[in-house]
Amino acid sequence: MRQSFKIAIAVGATVAILGPLGYFWQQSLVPSTYDMASMGYPDSGGGQQAGHAHGTGGLDVATLKGPSTGDPDVAVTLTARSENGKYTLNGTTPGPEIRALKGQLVQVTLVNDNITDGITLHWHGLDVPNAEDGVAGVTQNAVRPGQSYVYRFVAQDAGTYWYHSHQVSHEQVRLGLFGALVVTEPVFSEGIDQVVQVHTYDGRRTINGAVGESPLPAHAGQVVRARVINTDAGPLRAWVSGAPYRVVAIDGRAVSGPTDISGKAVTVTAGGRVDLTFTVPASGAARVDVGTGVALVAGGLPASAEPSGVVDFLSYGASAPVGFDPAKATRKFDYRIGRRVGFLDGKPGFWWSINGHLFPDVPMFMVSTGDIVRMTIANSSGEVHPMHLHGHHAVVLSRNGVAATGSPWWFDSLDVGDGETYEIAFVADNPGIWVDHCHNLKHAADGLLAHVAYTNVTTPFRIGGADGNSPE
Ligand code: C2O
Ligand code: CU
Repeated sequence: MRQSFKIAIAVGATVAILGPLGYFWQQSLVPSTYDMASMGYPDSGGGQQAGHAHGTGGLDVATLKGPSTGDPDVAVTLTARSENGKYTLNGTTPGPEIRALKGQLVQVTLVNDNITDGITLHWHGLDVPNAEDGVAGVTQNAVRPGQSYVYRFVAQDAGTYWYHSHQVSHEQVRLGLFGALVVTEPVFSEGIDQVVQVHTYDGRRTINGAVGESPLPAHAGQVVRARVINTDAGPLRAWVSGAPYRVVAIDGRAVSGPTDISGKAVTVTAGGRVDLTFTVPASGAARVDVGTGVALVAGGLPASAEPSGVVDFLSYGASAPVGFDPAKATRKFDYRIGRRVGFLDGKPGFWWSINGHLFPDVPMFMVSTGDIVRMTIANSSGEVHPMHLHGHHAVVLSRNGVAATGSPWWFDSLDVGDGETYEIAFVADNPGIWVDHCHNLKHAADGLLAHVAYTNVTTPFRIGGADGNSPE
């Protein structure tokens, strides 16, 4: 073979391999600034096909605000600071607990003192109007040092929620920019209502910021409602000892017909909440554990071993109507989570995929107001993913083909384990652009993020660019 011919073959082979590689590398680059509403490819789920409206004529997310007039019933100013490697709100982490009665108008003024990346607040689990949702680059611009931003929304549903930054959230939440948000029924209830906010700072698990055991100020005969909030990245086990307990709410929605539990734990999804109630026994001794050695303790009850059994929410409680017919779904989506080799924003790696695609080339789940939506979430990625859809509560229909038989299992944060498939359903009743992502926030930053978008909704905000919006 002539030398020049050999070189030609070598060059040809190199181009054949590197050409496509270069193409995929180039295709993976996330533009320095982009519109969430034209990020990947529209998936209409078998429903009416209509794309995002671009430019004129669409419904602008910035107009989808809470009440603009009226005196707030609850008014809070939260000033965020970076200090000693932590993020605080009004000098503490977790930030102040916000409490409202159902139906009250809440106004939160967020002030950024010195956090250079900018900040936002997202009301995790509270289905607020889109413009109040707090996602940088989608529903607002990040709030820069010296700036402030006012959120106003009606606390429509009683339940346990939390708030956290949704700008560079995989760092800002871990470093402390979050707090509890509790909405209660406007009726007097006797007993102890206790937030149990679990967060790991520098590898140490805490309850409401305190390590180890903290006192639970409850005495014999009192009913305790423990609102367990998992602000960490992975699933949490919680259990009560000293008395039987009930799961009375999951993710801010009441459980129908809760029954007594003894000798079993519950799993609290990352981002999720579980409300447990129990009556302190005559001895006055009871405790709520959230992992080994971290507990709220009444009457000095010593720790007992973590129960090996776990309550299955698929069959817990009594069935009840969900208020719509999932069999009449007008959109059906797949959200298949895998993992594959490829480029994410030009970085080669083994990345999370959604329906075989890598971010940002992921589906935009298109819906219209009034749609009944079914979604099949399947995970073959090798790790658990706590999936969180903003702005809506969905109900679990089945897991691995087994239909739900207990109380309607409403959720906003759902652990989908490796090898598991969940069928869920929800009603599209809150127009906007809503991110739908993994709440192991590092995973979201690594591309496990898609969104549900209402047809014809537009956003004036952009990821990246001069505003530096970086929601995950
Ligand atoms: Cu609690 Cu999009 O997050
Ligand atoms: Cu994940």
